[in-house]
Amino acid sequence: MKVLVAAPLAPFLRRAVIPPEKEVELLPEGAPLPEGEYAGVVPLLTCRLGEAELARLRGLRVVANFAVGYDNVDVAAARARGIAVSNTPGVLTEATAELTWALILAAARRLPEGEALVRGGAWHGWGPTQLLGMGLGGKVLGLLGAGRIARAVARRAPAFGMTVHYWSRTRRPEWEADAGVEWRELHSLLAESDVVSLHLALSAETARIIGADALARMKPGAVLVNSARGGLVDEPALVAALRSGRLRAAGLDVYAGEPLVPEALRELPNVVLLPHIGSATEEARQGMWDLAWGNVVAVLSGERPLTPV
Ligand code: DGY
Repeated sequence: MKVLVAAPLAPFLRRAVIPPEKEVELLPEGAPLPEGEYAGVVPLLTCRLGEAELARLRGLRVVANFAVGYDNVDVAAARARGIAVSNTPGVLTEATAELTWALILAAARRLPEGEALVRGGAWHGWGPTQLLGMGLGGKVLGLLGAGRIARAVARRAPAFGMTVHYWSRTRRPEWEADAGVEWRELHSLLAESDVVSLHLALSAETARIIGADALARMKPGAVLVNSARGGLVDEPALVAALRSGRLRAAGLDVYAGEPLVPEALRELPNVVLLPHIGSATEEARQGMWDLAWGNVVAVLSGERPLTPV
């Protein structure tokens, strides 16, 4: 029983928990998917698994995606072939929420500009009007989404004195009552929030949900943060909003055409640009592997995946 595993995951493999009847074959980074008999595959989010790719892996029973997002997998095509698909929710929630706050703080307080000043040797000392940013206390944090990561981001907001509003298609009355967060219509949320943070899955419905229209509805001088998927944002429209000053700043960890980051974004001083490291902690990565492999073992033992999508 062969399982194809993306080679960059090798450091996380704990050989001891791999049953002897399961043979792991490592797929080198950037290599095309081989054709052959594979009972399972553990792909990275950069590996597209559409109908054609699934057809190459004969006898496939499980795609255990090494990510919580699964927009790289054609789930309908997998389902039609009787292949289970799983993801890695929960284990990366805290890491991604922490990075979201790093983006909020860095964008609101202009950390990249400050760092560039010091590194460039151009800092001539303290100044009362130097690099003035936006304080967070008393401001509104608007979340798009109400999943685990959005809720973990919200949990940290009181520490910064922020009120949390959220929009999602499905309201969460129990969360509203427990956490004191308030649901808003999307347009109201955009208009009222000082910081808008994206925590939606990427799908046909959510693609470019933050386009020119949404950006024009945002509060002048607001901050946009995206640690979810780049495709949620229309990047040229964001560049225009940042250039014009309509938006104060943005904090981005993800991009529409990764690893391509549009030059127009890279040239802007008021945007924090990170290389998709939301879940990049040692703890989260090991947790992602353990869960992905647990999903493989469950399905190949005739059980349901632990975390099916
Ligand atoms: C995910 O899991 O979807 C992140 O983007 C990478 O960990």
